[in-house]
Amino acid sequence: MASLGDFSCFSANYKDIGIGDYVERICRVLAEHEWIYNFQLTRFFVEKVWEKLPKEWRKPLLSLSTDDLNHLPTGRVKDDWPTSLKDFVETAASLALPRQQSHDLVAMEINKDLARGMTPKKKHEVSYLASVIRDACRKTSCSTVIDIGSGLGYLGQVLHHQCGVQVVGVEAQASHVHGAQRRIKSQGKDADAQIQTVNLKLEDTSSCIHDLELLINTLQQSPSKDQSQTDVFNRNNDVERENGTCMVGLHCCGDLCPTMLKMFVSVERLKCLVCVSCCYHGMSVTDPGSRPSCFMNFPLSRTVKEKLKKVSTEFPDWQLNVFAMRLAAQETQARWSCQSYEDHLFHTRTVAYRAVLEHVVTTGGKGIQKLKRKVTRKDAFQSFPVYLDAVFGRMTLHSDETVRTEEDWKKYHDALQHSHDQWEEFFPYIEIITALQVLLQPVLETLVTVDRCLYLQEQGLKTEVVPIFDDRISPRNLAIIAER
Ligand SMILES: C[S@@+](CC[C@H](N)C(=O)[O-])C[C@H]1O[C@@H](n2cnc3c(N)ncnc32)[C@H](O)[C@@H]1O
Repeated sequence: MASLGDFSCFSANYKDIGIGDYVERICRVLAEHEWIYNFQLTRFFVEKVWEKLPKEWRKPLLSLSTDDLNHLPTGRVKDDWPTSLKDFVETAASLALPRQQSHDLVAMEINKDLARGMTPKKKHEVSYLASVIRDACRKTSCSTVIDIGSGLGYLGQVLHHQCGVQVVGVEAQASHVHGAQRRIKSQGKDADAQIQTVNLKLEDTSSCIHDLELLINTLQQSPSKDQSQTDVFNRNNDVERENGTCMVGLHCCGDLCPTMLKMFVSVERLKCLVCVSCCYHGMSVTDPGSRPSCFMNFPLSRTVKEKLKKVSTEFPDWQLNVFAMRLAAQETQARWSCQSYEDHLFHTRTVAYRAVLEHVVTTGGKGIQKLKRKVTRKDAFQSFPVYLDAVFGRMTLHSDETVRTEEDWKKYHDALQHSHDQWEEFFPYIEIITALQVLLQPVLETLVTVDRCLYLQEQGLKTEVVPIFDDRISPRNLAIIAER
C-alpha cells in the first residue's frame, strides 16, 4: 500500500519537493482561488460570484462542451486557454491525493444474514473496510476492535463474525445503540452474547481517555463469546489471538475523526487505527472570525499550521471556514464526469432558482422572509413557473402580517419573476463555477487528510492514507491507517 512516509501516495509531480513545500503549494492555490468556494451557493446572484472570475477565463469557459466541462476537474485543459487558466487547472488537479480505489484491495464477501438491511453503498464500504481492518489487525496482532461511531453496528458484526475479533461499539446516540441491539436480536442472536455497544460520546478529555482504557481492559479480558457458538455465519476465525486493540471508524463525522486521532496518540494500548472521515464542515468552530482557519480541530499538525500561517501573511483575508469544509465533503469528480447536458441544465436550474429567491429575500424586506422556506422536491425545478407555484404553494395567505392581500402576493411574485429575468443571462456561469469547485474539492480534502496524517506522523506514528472505496459509490473513500 502507498505510504505517506515516503510520499508515494502523493501525486507523482510532487514526489521530489518534500512535504512542507507540497503543503505550501496546496495552501497557496486555495488562498489564491478562495472566491471559488468561499460563499453560499444560494447567494450566487447576491454576491455576483462570476464577477470574480478572471476576465480572460470567461469566454473559454463559457464555450466548453459538456465533455470538456465534465473533464475540467481531472486537469484536462485546452490549448487555446490563457496560460493562467491552464496553470491553475493543471496545478490544482496535480495536488490532489489519488482517489482511485487501490488495486491491492480485495473485498470481503459479506455473509447474507449479516448483509441484511445494508444499502448497496454500505455493503460496498463494509466489504472493503472489514478486509482492510482484518489485515491491519493481523499485522499489529490485535484481536480486539473498538468501532467508534458504530451507528447500527454493521461493520462490527462483520468483523466479529467473519474475522473472529472481539468488537465493542462506541456510539453517542442512544437511538443508534438500541437500533444496533434490535438488529442483532432480529437475526435470532442474543444481543448480550454478541457485540456490545456502549452509549458514550467520545471526547478529548482525560475522563474519556479513562473510559476508553477501561473499555479496552474489559474487551481484552473477555474471550470472544462467539467462538463456542455454532458457526451459522461461516465465521472465518483467522486473526491471531493476540492482545492488541485496534480503533476503527467508518464515516467519522465532524470532530470525531480528530478526537479519535488524539485518543490514539494518548492511549498506548491502542496498537492500530483505521478511520474513514466525513462531514468536515461539522467540526467545531472556535471563533467564526478566526483566520486562516476557524476550526478547533483543524489544523492539527505542526507542518500545516506553519504553512497556513506563512501563506496567510500574503493573503490575510483568506479563511478556511464552513464553506471550504462543506466543499471538501462533497462528491469527488468521479460522478461529475459522467453528467449529461440535461444533468447540467437541471443542476443550473436548482441553483439558479434558489439563488433568485435568495436575492429577492435579501433585497425585498421583511415581509418576504417566509418565502425562503425550503422547496426540495426535484420536480419543482422543471421550470421557473413550476418553481414559483411550489414556493407560493407552501404559504397560506394572511399567514404573515406583512403579506396580507392578493396585491402582496402579486408583488412578491412579480419581484421573483423580475429577479429571474435580471439574472438569467448569468445562469451559464453556475456550471462553470461548480466545475471549478469540483476541481478544488479534492485539494481541500487533501489538505485536511494530509494534516491528520502529519499530526500522527509528528507523534512518531507510522501512518498511511489509502483510497479504499470506489469513489463513484462512496465519495469519502480515504482511509487513514496508523500503527504504533
Ligand atoms: C456518519 S455516522 C456513521 C455510522 C456508522 N459508522 C456507519 O458507517 O454506518 C457517524 C456516527 O458517529 C456517531 N458519533 C458522532 N460523534 C460521536 C462521538 N463523539 N462519539 C461517539 N459517537 C459519535 C454518530 O452518532 C453517528 O452514529
